[in-house]
Amino acid sequence: MSPALVHSISELRRLLAPLRAPGATIGCVPTMGALHEGHGRLIERARADCRTVVVTLFVNPIQFNRSDDLERYPRTLDTDLRFCEQRGVDFVFAPDAAEMFPAEPLARVDVDRLADRLCGPFRPGHFRGVATVVAKLFNIVQPDRAYFGEKDAQQLAVIERMTLDLNFPVTIVPVATVREADGLAMSSRNARLSPEQRRSAAVLYRALEAARERLAAGGSTAEQAEDAARAALAGVPDVRVEYLEIVDAEMQPVREIAGPVRIAIAAWIGDVRLIDNVLFEPR
Ligand code: PAF
Repeated sequence: MSPALVHSISELRRLLAPLRAPGATIGCVPTMGALHEGHGRLIERARADCRTVVVTLFVNPIQFNRSDDLERYPRTLDTDLRFCEQRGVDFVFAPDAAEMFPAEPLARVDVDRLADRLCGPFRPGHFRGVATVVAKLFNIVQPDRAYFGEKDAQQLAVIERMTLDLNFPVTIVPVATVREADGLAMSSRNARLSPEQRRSAAVLYRALEAARERLAAGGSTAEQAEDAARAALAGVPDVRVEYLEIVDAEMQPVREIAGPVRIAIAAWIGDVRLIDNVLFEPR
């Protein structure tokens, strides 16, 4: 059955109200559309866990710090609806910008420290925009559970902390990154890569794996693992690394590896910015 397509906040609230009951969980998968198998995994997980599944499709203007990036972000409502239908989604909430932001928002959500490193300095205001829109979506949908991908590990950490600090009654469910056969993490932005750039992009995962292997071999510092990743990246055409860093659960840089860490990268492949990360847990 096709999901109900809803554009207005009041209509979504009206439709969801009778579905709220003890034990009748509502799952929310917040997205910006251009759905791919990474989103598919979030939806499948929500479908397995919850009685009602709501997918939100909203290209959130306040999380883009570059207007060209916002304009070029793919918008594919019809294919997204078919994608949701094939996965048994109940509601697709696709508001326009005027519905979500009838006026410039003066109340915004900042999650300090977690947002300061990695993507933070390169995308000023990005995590504030993400946290603000996710807080609004939580208040609109009022889900019991919400699903986010580990590819966006910093975003996930920001949302988990916001949920904890502001007491949103939502369980955040992290879902593992889905990769192409050559290791490239699935992302809506991959569609913008030329065939040559697409081949180059696979080096990001190879670099992360090189760092992880270096740590797994034992006795290496974070710096040595980062060097191993940089060696893997060397000479691959069209790749410009923005950051490559080993961080703890609060996204702060780690020098000596004493507990679980994330090896995180952001790189431009031509004019497409991609991010990825892997977890390393010392034995
Ligand atoms: O990950 C995304 O697609 C977006 O950042 C999110 C969480 C839907 C907020 O706009």
